[in-house]
Amino acid sequence: MAKPPKQPKPGTLAASADRHTCYELAVQSVEPEIDMVSDTFKSIRKRKPRVIREDFCGTANSSCEWVKRSKNNRAICLDLDQEVLDWGIKNNVSSLDPEQQQRIELLNCDVRNFTEEKADIILAMNFSYQIFETRESLRDYFKKTREGLNEDGILFIDAFGGHESYREIKEKTKYDGFNYYWDQAKYDPITGHMLCYIHFKFPDGSWLKRAFSYEWRLYTLPELQEILYEAGYSKVTVYWEGTDDETGEGNGEYFPAEHGEDDPSWIVYISAEK
Ligand SMILES: C[S@@+](CC[C@H](N)C(=O)[O-])C[C@H]1O[C@@H](n2cnc3c(N)ncnc32)[C@H](O)[C@@H]1O
Repeated sequence: MAKPPKQPKPGTLAASADRHTCYELAVQSVEPEIDMVSDTFKSIRKRKPRVIREDFCGTANSSCEWVKRSKNNRAICLDLDQEVLDWGIKNNVSSLDPEQQQRIELLNCDVRNFTEEKADIILAMNFSYQIFETRESLRDYFKKTREGLNEDGILFIDAFGGHESYREIKEKTKYDGFNYYWDQAKYDPITGHMLCYIHFKFPDGSWLKRAFSYEWRLYTLPELQEILYEAGYSKVTVYWEGTDDETGEGNGEYFPAEHGEDDPSWIVYISAEK
């Protein structure tokens, strides 16, 4: 069971920090992500996508980027947590112009229950679908996304893995004004269940401990591909990250691939065509 967030000491930098702002800076890269899904949709379907449904939208950051890109773009954003939706409205949607705001909708809704409108693209990013911890419940969710897509619609998800992802380790990354910690606190090899936290540490030594917590099953890529096909998708593609020749690190560009490498830690995108 996840422990609750720890309240920071009053008067510290952590006490005045906003966990959602830190999350968006440290975790999300909405511009390249929207480039990737939009370009991939166009190259597969030979038309521009218009309606995006962002499942597990959190602060709806990706959808705000989407509606900024074209006056023909619309976004439907689904999340169960009213606190995070309210934050997204106050901080992200409110910085769109009034016309852009007309084309984005944030709904407090379970991703499995939305049936009102079909989308060209459904996004389920940052591994959120892994909360469905049995194959049956994940297949049911993927089936519902398929039903929620237009005839030529495409579901995009991401996935992570590599042998480091099975270890109980904390990884630190430095950002302007804070350090970000990805904490793989518990992994159960029998069930695949995993408990992870995000913490932030500030220059005065104060912490936002357990600012976010995640409990999910770490699915493998063969499992995800199989379950997507079982849910009725006609074609599933994994996109592996290219390598920067100089650093040997990932270069942020993703290519369709049938085979990967034994990287200690990787992130991929997956497209599933209706
Ligand atoms: C890891 S965050 C993802 C945030 C964002 N999509 C991103 O890419 O960073 C997961 C979000 O899923 C929401 N969530 C969990 N279960 C849900 C469900 N069944 N339906 C809708 N939202 C759900 C949580 O409230 C949380 O905001």
